[in-house]
Parts: sequence; structure tokens; C-alpha cells
Amino acid sequence: MMKAIVKKCAIFVTLVAIISNIYIFTYPSLHPQSCSWNCASSKRDYIPIDSLNGVERWLYYAKRYINDVKQQILPSETAEEKGGPSDIHLLALGDPQIKGNWKHTPYITRLDTFGNDYYLGHIYSMMKKRLHPTHVAVMGDLFSSQWIGDSEFFNRTVRYTHRLFKRNTTWLEAIRDENHDEDNQYKVDWVNYADDLQVRRARVPMDFQFGYEDVYSWDPENEDSLFINITGNHDIGYSGDATFQHMARFYELFGKDNYWIEYDNDTDHPWRIVVLNSLLLEGPALQPEFLNITWEFLYQLFERRFAGSTVLLTHVPFYKRAGLCADGPEFRYYPADFEREPYKKNLLRSQNHLSEETTKRVLNLIFDNGKPGIILTGHDHVGCETIYNKDNKSGQWKASKVVESPEHFIKEITVKSMMGEFNGNAGLVTGRFDSKKLRWEWTFTLCPFSIQHVWWFTKVATIISGFLLSLLVLL
Ligand SMILES: *[C@@H]1O[C@H](CO)[C@@H](O)[C@H](O)[C@H]1NC(C)=O
Ligand SMILES: *[C@@H]1O[C@H](CO)[C@@H](O)[C@H](O)[C@H]1NC(C)=O
Ligand SMILES: *[C@@H]1O[C@H](CO)[C@@H](O)[C@H](O)[C@H]1NC(C)=O
Repeated sequence: MMKAIVKKCAIFVTLVAIISNIYIFTYPSLHPQSCSWNCASSKRDYIPIDSLNGVERWLYYAKRYINDVKQQILPSETAEEKGGPSDIHLLALGDPQIKGNWKHTPYITRLDTFGNDYYLGHIYSMMKKRLHPTHVAVMGDLFSSQWIGDSEFFNRTVRYTHRLFKRNTTWLEAIRDENHDEDNQYKVDWVNYADDLQVRRARVPMDFQFGYEDVYSWDPENEDSLFINITGNHDIGYSGDATFQHMARFYELFGKDNYWIEYDNDTDHPWRIVVLNSLLLEGPALQPEFLNITWEFLYQLFERRFAGSTVLLTHVPFYKRAGLCADGPEFRYYPADFEREPYKKNLLRSQNHLSEETTKRVLNLIFDNGKPGIILTGHDHVGCETIYNKDNKSGQWKASKVVESPEHFIKEITVKSMMGEFNGNAGLVTGRFDSKKLRWEWTFTLCPFSIQHVWWFTKVATIISGFLLSLLVLL
């Protein structure tokens, strides 16, 4: 009797576990078009579904799903004949915002935070396996709070590196061994960072070594893609919060906040990546020297007189009127009588966008050559696409939903967050060189997963099924 019940349960739960596992390990195949690079072969069998009735439509989706799964398991060898430079495949991940645990955090919340790391890690591994990106960029807000100590910052970096992105953490431990307090907890040496920064800032021109050329991996022996971390307000703070300590630890664990990488410079198809710390462009700032350095970065970039196409990666979106995206323009400042931290009074407390004036200056410094490009930002979580149309007379850039000045416009993609509440998205940027028009074309699609509960459900069902099956063996 008992055995019969357990058997029924075991069969049922095991079936559910199998189906949900198949789902979470093949979910991109449900959206083969948005989960593939532009022009990839799975996009070819696209037909207009509006002409199909209900059942035909389901059959069409099922066939498309099965074809895509088959293609993932047995990739066909039909490499594309294109000629010219190879495509650029950039995976853009929006605002993971991983949380931490405190002394009084309940166990259920701790478990949630733990699972969330692996949920995000699952999205990344699926994308990496399916798409083999040439570049991976995390669009800022790696963590959920700028108000954390060095030890917690370090611990989250280890989780980010190991659980989300499956990377080696040996170098992080080596850094901690060099820089720690008496309890052996990571402690950044920000005084040294600040001294070095002042020395570099005093040189003429300022010497921050902003520029790179043809870098396809920071560690070519072990890795064939380039990993880019972008500063978010939750990582370093808005300019009214950002201290030397914030900047020093980001720099030590995640790399520079401002740099460019130029590619294929002496060819007919140059292009570049610009990583910009948009949090340190506007004030009033706690450390005004940071703003000065970011602007210097933009001037040095402008002086390159670069002739190619630009991919701009930054956290805070550019100015747009309310209604175009989820966030309208908003600036908040610390009050003049801010008692808790009086040294912050009147400083910039938060911003949804860059201001209109800063937007104009930044876009004119980066996209002055009139070549096509693309802007990727994070920050608003909801995601958005906006066209910046340049008025060549006034130098103003007008944000709009449509192209208004065909001869000079740039698209800004605010990448939808990869957090569970937003369905675990990954952004796919394809750059393809059009050898006839002699220019790069940039396209973007968003690959959604699903809310974190589906992932949790799968894990729990798998564990229960394992338990019931072993029980069955014992009975
Ligand atoms: C960071 O992790 C270490 C080692 O697990 C632990 O001892 C330390 O308390 C953690 N730091 C914080 C702030 O929780
Ligand atoms: C991580 O890197 C270290 C040093 O570079 C190496 O000794 C170690 O084997 C690596 N670990 C893994 C899991 O690859
Ligand atoms: C970005 O962060 C990852 C994970 O911590 C790290 O492996 C990588 O080296 C960082 N990038 C740079 C440029 O430091």
C-alpha cells in the first residue's frame, strides 16, 4: 500500500522534474530569434505567424523549438560564407544587483540570496554555451548596495566571479592575502590608490592609460572572450557618495572605470568599445577630482579623432523627456541640513539620467565622426530603446522613439535587468560589417528566461524526485 503510493508520487514528481529541467536547459530554443545573434542560421526559417491559425501556430512553435534544440545538440557544420571581418558578438547583462546577508538576515532570505546567485549563473552558462560571445559586459549595479564594507564587497566579488560567471577566484584570494585587516578580512589600501591618482592627475596630460588596442581577452591563455565590468551607482555610489575607498576597491577587483579599446585600426573597418563611468560626470560631487578625471578621459578620447564605429557601454542612460522610457528625468540632492552625514549636504544623491547638457557634450565627444554606433546602458531595470537624433546645426541630440535625422543618429539600448523579477534577460548585440556600404551595422535582441521561481521549482522537484526514488529502492 505504502509502496504503491510512494511509487505513484515518485513517477509523478520525476516526470515533473524531467519536464522542468528540459525547460530550464533549453529555454533559449523557445525564442530562437531573440536568443541568437543576428543573421545566425536559426533565424532563417522565420515565417510570418500572423497567417497561421491557433493549432498551426502551436505546431509552428513546437517545430521551431525542436529544430533549435536539435541544432544546439548537433550543430550543423554549415559555417556561414560571408567574407570580410567576423561579426562581433557582445553579451550584455543588465544590473544583477546581488544582495548580501547580515547578522540578522533570516535563513529563508539567505537561501533566496544563495539560490539567486545560481539562477543568474544559469542564465550566463546557458548563454555562454549557446552563443560563445566575443565580449561579455555587465552593465553596472553588480551589487545591490554602495553602503557595504570592504569585506562584504570582497565576499560579493567572490560570489559574482565564482557563482555567476564561473571564473577562477585564486587571484582574488591572492589580493586578500596582500590587503587585509587583523581578522584577515579584505581591506582596500585606498590611501595608496588616492596618492597614485593624484600623481597621475598632476601629469600633463593626465596619465591614466585609458587606451587599449585589439584586446580580445584579458587572459588569452585561458579565455577567448573579453569580460567587462561597468560601474553602477550601487557599486561606487552616485557622485555625492563616491569616495576613494569605493573607487579603489572597484579598481582593484573589477578593473578601470573608464577606458577605450580600439580594434582593427589600420583596416577599412575600425571600431571601438568605450567604457564610461557615467556616475562621475555630474555633481556636486564628494570628490570633485573624480569628475575632472572622467571629463579628461572624454577629451583624450575625442583627441584620438577615431574614424570608426563606436560601442558605448555605460550605466546611467542619457537625457530623455518623461514618457519615452520607464524612468523620466530626475535629480535628487542631499538636503542642506543633512544631519546624518553633514559633509554630504547639497551633493548629488541620485539621478535617473544624465542631464540634457551633459548628454549633448558626451555624445558630441564620442559620436562626433558620424559613423554608426550603439549605446548600451543599465540602471532602469525595465529596459528601453531610444533613438538619439543629432541636429547638426545646434549640436543637440533629441531623444525619440523614431529616426528623425537619418544622416546622424545613434540608438541607445537600456538593457533590461537579468534579475528574476524582470525574467532573467540577456541582451545580445551583433555587430556586422557591411562590406558594400563599408560600415558596421549594430543590432540588439533580448533573450528572456523566466521568473526565478521556475528555476527554484525545478531544483526542488529534482531533489524531491531523487528522494522519492531512493525511498522506493529502500521500501
Ligand atoms: C566574508 O567572508 C568571510 C569568509 O567566509 C567571513 O569570515 C566574513 O565574515 C565575511 N564578511 C562579512 C562582512 O560578512
Ligand atoms: C585557478 O588559477 C590558479 C592560478 O592561476 C590555478 O593554479 C588553478 O588551478 C586554477 N583553478 C581552476 C579551477 O582552474
Ligand atoms: C571583471 O570581473 C571579473 C570577475 O570578477 C574578472 O574576472 C575580470 O578580470 C574583471 N575585468 C577586469 C577588466 O578587471
